[in-house]
Amino acid sequence: MNIFRNDLNTKPDIKVAVQVKKYMMSLNESNLNPINSLSDKLNETFKNVQLNRYVSDVTVQLKRELADYVGHGVKESQILFGNGVDDMLYFLFTAVRTFKTSYALSLAPSYFDYKTYSGSVGLEMEFLDFNQDFNFSVDDYLERLNSQNCELGIICNPNNPTGHLIPDKKIINILQKTTKPILIDETYFEFSGKTFVDMIKEFPNIIISRSFSKSFSAAGLRFGYIVSSEENCIFLNRVMPVFNCGILTQSIALTILQNKSLFIENNNKIVSSKEEMYNEMKKYSEVTVYQSYTNFLTFSLGEMSSDFYNYLLDNDISIRPVGAHPLLKNHLRVTVCDDDSNKAFLTALSTFLRKE
Ligand SMILES: Cc1ncc(COP(=O)(O)O)c(C=O)c1O
Repeated sequence: MNIFRNDLNTKPDIKVAVQVKKYMMSLNESNLNPINSLSDKLNETFKNVQLNRYVSDVTVQLKRELADYVGHGVKESQILFGNGVDDMLYFLFTAVRTFKTSYALSLAPSYFDYKTYSGSVGLEMEFLDFNQDFNFSVDDYLERLNSQNCELGIICNPNNPTGHLIPDKKIINILQKTTKPILIDETYFEFSGKTFVDMIKEFPNIIISRSFSKSFSAAGLRFGYIVSSEENCIFLNRVMPVFNCGILTQSIALTILQNKSLFIENNNKIVSSKEEMYNEMKKYSEVTVYQSYTNFLTFSLGEMSSDFYNYLLDNDISIRPVGAHPLLKNHLRVTVCDDDSNKAFLTALSTFLRKE
């Protein structure tokens, strides 16, 4: 018997449906483990952590260094952080939900878990589908966004799982014609280099989300942050637990940030490997693959996709089916990783298509 809210009766379970294999290319994680590359520095960090305290200097220092990293004149008071972007989404959805009929609007297909977490707080989710070339009508978006029950617009940029960037012109057009909060999810920012942080002054309804899970190689750390106006952060903070992010997490995030060159170097490598993989995959007439501004490539082998997915599993390679939305029927998503994994994937593709 469900003793909680009625709508939880029909809400799907929250679980990760991913196969664990030798080559993990399914969750857009990084191949680099900071525990290995920063072990001495982390040991030093841990010695100074006061685990017996709620309050720590680390929080102040991390906000300062994050503000520096984000740049564009952003101040510490414009940053809030938590256990991954997912956590921050949860707080944001809690902050905007007003009535049972309240909804957030996202383009589709996009990050699957917008719906998961909006559903958790009883916020409805509506979608405007991209068209065939992943474009959309700004007028249609604005009509749905500016309707009375819409409390939040979401733009994932670059978008997961398509990997494409939304044209600046379209985002600016939307921002010029609404006062509703607009979440621009920049989880893959470091791979695209595209940010709207510099527009927060002009459009204070922008809320940017960023993650340490991808380009900072720390998905298991669970650290993500939000950048917005000082005023938005004050209000958003009112729905967050006072010590929501552990001191150990913050200390590791700070150490990672202080050694960011290591990760930037790895990101550059991933971006060039992605180009190589894209060009290799494009050589096959059976493969449709899209340009991506992230650390993954989305592609299709048409009716053969599902067989290829299973073939990869048999070869110890885990990637992600992303065909739930009709626009991406039969599509798969592969994370660009280290040379070994990328080679294993390309070899499997070649063998599967018997092109060797
Ligand atoms: C677009 C997008 N937003 C948010 C997240 C969640 O990031 P985090 O690991 O920081 O919770 C992901 C993770 O894959 C994502 O792809």
